[in-house]
Amino acid sequence: MILETKGISKVFGKLQALLDVDLQVAQGEIFGIAGPNGAGKSTLFNVIAGTFPPSTGKVIFDGRDVTALKSHQICRIGLARTFQVPQTFPSLSVYDNIRVGVTFGGARQARIADRIEQALDFLDLNSVRDLEASNLDLYTTKLVMMAACLATDCRLLMLDEPLAGLSVTEISDFLRVVRHINQNAGTTVVIIEHILDSLIEISERILILDTGEVIYNGDPEGIRTDARVIEVYLGDGQVALEEEDR
Ligand SMILES: Nc1ncnc2c1ncn2[C@@H]1O[C@H](COP(=O)(O)OP(=O)(O)OP(=O)(O)O)[C@@H](O)[C@H]1O
Ligand SMILES: [Mg+2]
Repeated sequence: MILETKGISKVFGKLQALLDVDLQVAQGEIFGIAGPNGAGKSTLFNVIAGTFPPSTGKVIFDGRDVTALKSHQICRIGLARTFQVPQTFPSLSVYDNIRVGVTFGGARQARIADRIEQALDFLDLNSVRDLEASNLDLYTTKLVMMAACLATDCRLLMLDEPLAGLSVTEISDFLRVVRHINQNAGTTVVIIEHILDSLIEISERILILDTGEVIYNGDPEGIRTDARVIEVYLGDGQVALEEEDR
């Protein structure tokens, strides 16, 4: 396992945002996470990536207990993440935005330029490398955020709702890029997503959270028929789990 959480709980004041969350992500897989708004998905990412510590529980990355590490320290050992709200430095070029990511990841100066070039090539961003980030459309902004992660040489890439706001065509393009990263760079991917059809399509396993607790963990297709998952999504009224006509 490249990533494990053991009994992760997180309390914000009186709010139990996560309760006893166990997760295992195998080396090389694409692992999906879903759940209604406020279920604790981003909080789980924040705990794993060292934005803040859990109230109780452990995060194990690559066999090492990283629970107490800060986010830049975790990034340095190979775990990078994007944020739910697209964040770039608007007045910096694409190149410099990626450079900020690599610097956070702690690469030695001599290797920074190489890594940026590799990330630009890998995500086919050379044509926009000198553009200011403020001029990019949402899709390209999301690619730049991923490039900044890849340039840290991460072994685990965590994406927080990367498909939000994209068109149908952009969604399929983005999923193709994620598969390309997973297959060609060998990067393990954990992806939070509300668009369940896309998540089922790309993930090897899916975990569903509801009010901080794991209610499903396993086969992607199985979520379509799982009584608790259906109840949570239909009860929440935001995503209908419709059987596709075949
Ligand atoms: N830093 C924080 N301080 C206090 N409460 C927080 C904090 N972060 C998240 N919460 C609360 O914890 C709960 C879980 O939030 P979280 O952002 O993890 O949900 P989510 O599953 O990512 O939802 P969404 O699908 O809307 O992104 C929510 O009730 C949220 O208001
Ligand atoms: Mg979230």
